[in-house]
Amino acid sequence: MASYLSERVTRRNFMKGAAAALSSTIIAIRASEASPGSLKAAVRHRGIFFGTAVTSETLKSDPFFRDAVLAECSSLTPELSMKWGAAEPSEGKLDLTAMDEIADFSRSNGLQVYGHTLLWHESIPQWAEAMLRDTPSWQHIRNHIATVMARYGDIVRYWDVVNEPMDTGHRQDGLRDSLFLRAFGSGYIERALRDARVFSPGGKLMINEYGLEYDNREERDRRYLFLKMIEGLKSKDIPLDGIGLQAHLDLRKGTVFELGIKDFLREIEGFGLEVVVTELDVKEADYAAPADERDLAVADESKRYLETVLDSKAVKGVTTWGLSDRYSWLQVTEEELAAYNGAWLDGRGPGLNRGLPLDAMLMPKRMYAAIASTLAK
Ligand code: XIL
Repeated sequence: MASYLSERVTRRNFMKGAAAALSSTIIAIRASEASPGSLKAAVRHRGIFFGTAVTSETLKSDPFFRDAVLAECSSLTPELSMKWGAAEPSEGKLDLTAMDEIADFSRSNGLQVYGHTLLWHESIPQWAEAMLRDTPSWQHIRNHIATVMARYGDIVRYWDVVNEPMDTGHRQDGLRDSLFLRAFGSGYIERALRDARVFSPGGKLMINEYGLEYDNREERDRRYLFLKMIEGLKSKDIPLDGIGLQAHLDLRKGTVFELGIKDFLREIEGFGLEVVVTELDVKEADYAAPADERDLAVADESKRYLETVLDSKAVKGVTTWGLSDRYSWLQVTEEELAAYNGAWLDGRGPGLNRGLPLDAMLMPKRMYAAIASTLAK
């Protein structure tokens, strides 16, 4: 770890003009070497992978970030570019340039890609929304599954076939009242899984879900209803190999419910399923606390969560939703900003959410150390 991290410090000090280009080359060379202290090295003894979500944009435009990704990760998840809305913006017209770039980058650097995601209610192209509403045809969905699986099947091992199918508080079965459900009924999940098996006989087919971590009514219901749903699929022999736990931790909800998570994972193991932590990050609760306290709270929660889930042998990988606060999807909200009475304007405000392993300067935080030590155990 020491050499790679001290490179990052040194680099920041002379990161100007030609010096930046030169140092970036040096770092790139070093990054492709072993990086013994990296997160990917920390998980190696467990035989699992460590990865992060990326966009092709940041990999291209930010060589320092790219080097950090190469040094730390053995798997990449496309944050945006595999989703249907991005991949097929108009009917029959593919836009897989960004996804191709991530796949090529992974192929040339020996990384695996985590296939996220084939069906998600939040990323349906407009033309397909209209189709699903007015003239539902499964053929469009089958085409999308076939195209993506064929194109990236060489590099993707795990596929989030369906993302976020659950939504408590509406239907008795806990299924989300999505356009997919309205168009094809609750059988759309098994249909997608069966198709995915046809186009990827050897891939690991996953259902990825959020809101499974805390001890509140909604998440208790969600854990229960999700297990019932999975039980239904398994009883019908539907091809399902595992589940993704998004793990968007949230300090506003308290601390993760270790017992509930362990019980849930025991049931998952009982079904013979694998588990991947797919989108780990931490939303902060108190941006006014001293920086060190903030980082400690984020690190403690990450550690508590990872220790809880890594207890299970079913866990085959850990992925964070971004590597650096520089590119986190977690933004400080308008309401949160308002709570600072304009402090933001003179620089004393909360800055960025600090819920990823590296800070905005790509320096490792307490969260990095917490993840590294937990994975290394
Ligand atoms: C998010 C991306 O991070 C955002 O940039 C995008 O605007 C919306 O999607 N659960 C998921 C991810 O499964 O695909 C989401 O990613 C975050 C929540």
